[in-house]
Amino acid sequence: MLALLLASVMLGGATDALDTPLTAAAGDAMRGRQIVENRQLSACLLCHSGPFPAPHLQGTIGPPLDGVGSRLSAGQIRLRLVDAGKLNPDTVMPPYYVTDGLNRVGHAWQGKPALSAQQIEDVVAFLATLRAP
Ligand code: HEC
Repeated sequence: MLALLLASVMLGGATDALDTPLTAAAGDAMRGRQIVENRQLSACLLCHSGPFPAPHLQGTIGPPLDGVGSRLSAGQIRLRLVDAGKLNPDTVMPPYYVTDGLNRVGHAWQGKPALSAQQIEDVVAFLATLRAP
């Protein structure tokens, strides 16, 4: 699976994107919003802020997610969710889609939140709707 991911990263136009969706079923932006807002499930708001409830409980470790759908393509967002470490080996953002146990050895976020392929697609669909004004 990792080889497949790498292959599609290299074959895709942009090298910082994963253009092929992980599932045949399209992502659902409404479910994606719920996943991002669910602190137990995804922990996104530990590090990111955005157009979500309770702004004072949102993180500043990562860039604000406001307007991210204007800055990044769906493929670029997908790669960052699947494994941000591919772009920045020192990132603190956990890899959210891990299929190979070995991939995680030594990672500080080992055993921490991971999402299913469908959940990744839902979050990609949602983040793509966050447009800059
Ligand atoms: C432990 C902190 C942390 C968590 C948890 C986290 N991120 Fe991140 N995220 C970061 C950091 C830091 C960056 C900046 C780039 C880097 O260092 O890799 C980033 C980058 C991003 C980017 C690229 C933004 C841009 O403008 O370039 C997106 C999109 C993103 N994160 C979405 C998410 C989503 C969605 C979740 C939850 C499923 C999440 N992140 C969870 C820390 C985190």
